[in-house]
Amino acid sequence: MQNFEYYNPTRIIFGKDTIAKIAEHIPEHARILMLYGGSSAERNGTLAEVRSVLGGRTVQEFGGIESNPTYETLMQAVATVRREKLDFLLAVGGGSVIDGTKFVAAAVNHIGDPWEILTTHGANVTQALPFGTVLTLPATGSEMNSFSVITRSETREKLGFGSTLVYPRFSVLDPTKTFTLPLRQVANGVVDSFVHTIEQYLTYPVDAKVQDRFAEGLLLSLVEIGPKVVSEPENYDLRANFMWIATLALNGLIGVGVPQDWSTHMIGHEMTARYDIDHARTLAVILPSLLRVCREAKRGKLLQYAARVWNLNDGTEDERIEAAIMKTEAFFESLGIPTRLSAYAIGSDAIDGLIDQLETHGMTALGEHQDVTLDVCRRVLEAAL
Ligand code: NZQ
Ligand code: ZN
Repeated sequence: MQNFEYYNPTRIIFGKDTIAKIAEHIPEHARILMLYGGSSAERNGTLAEVRSVLGGRTVQEFGGIESNPTYETLMQAVATVRREKLDFLLAVGGGSVIDGTKFVAAAVNHIGDPWEILTTHGANVTQALPFGTVLTLPATGSEMNSFSVITRSETREKLGFGSTLVYPRFSVLDPTKTFTLPLRQVANGVVDSFVHTIEQYLTYPVDAKVQDRFAEGLLLSLVEIGPKVVSEPENYDLRANFMWIATLALNGLIGVGVPQDWSTHMIGHEMTARYDIDHARTLAVILPSLLRVCREAKRGKLLQYAARVWNLNDGTEDERIEAAIMKTEAFFESLGIPTRLSAYAIGSDAIDGLIDQLETHGMTALGEHQDVTLDVCRRVLEAAL
């Protein structure tokens, strides 16, 4: 097992009717900015519920944070916080609202151009406003991690940053608040959390026994409940399990002491930036193709994945590996998520542009061995056509 430090200060408040508890965790005299997305949180009553528990605190609201939140919109929130001298942020929404709130938290008192927070991937973040979250979409793990991904629409760039200063103080996970999700978003969440788990697991063995078993537990649980989570929107127990799985898939725990490979996400971010494809859908296209192209480097773990997640124990090694990749694709497709670029009307003419963007963003040595070069990314995209 590799050396690691593990730190996670986010308080999780889980279960039905838990929004009321946020009052205990926000200072009495806080001046709050409540941030949200489009209309979903207003329509399903979540915003009203949050407003009702904030008592006499000063509360301003900032709506309109898009999916794949934009720098341009978030800078308006930064201006509001500065103008109104607000000192606590409260995100109500999915990964986009939470990621956007993290950026606002870091940008408000940032000295210099706030876009540098993204170009330096968070290295220059020295302070951030405190914030909490009320999660309405299980998928990204943003509610319990220190990452954020922001899009600059002007340049069609999608970049991430991370800082221990942007862990949420608390996150409310009330599974009933997900009942109104469109099926497409639920399916996206299942795939996103599946791929987060895979990217911290499917590299090379380092004898990290419990991290492997944790990761396999998350994958097996997603395979077991994924289709039902989508088809039974008001099944509390399914939603509760899914919500906690998605959080655990990217709160850092399964990734400690093990190599990681975020190539699928990095290639996927360029696809979203250029073609507006939902985040999880880019992953469903890239992951199977990446596993095929990188099968030699990942052979040991692919065989473990085949045996322990898909119960594939017969045939040659290569047959088991290919069968496991096909099972993965079939799982994504069973959720209604296509796994080929052609299904998103993307042809071979798009590949040069995507490779150029990866190069511009310094994504030239990805993967657990830093050997997923631009040439390898090209092969991954070609194999996904
Ligand atoms: O905007 P509203 O009207 O609220 O609608 C949203 C949005 O259209 C809707 N929604 C959310 N909760 C709902 C609901 N609709 C009905 N009922 C509810 N309870 O769902 C739509 C998608 O929301 P969004 O927040 O964009 O989705 P998600 O949570 O999948 O977040 C995606 C973003 O997270 C980033 C992605 O790149 C993308 O920008 N990621 C963040 C990560 C992190 N911070 O660690 C890691 C991930 O890999 C990912 O990159
Ligand atoms: Zn993701």
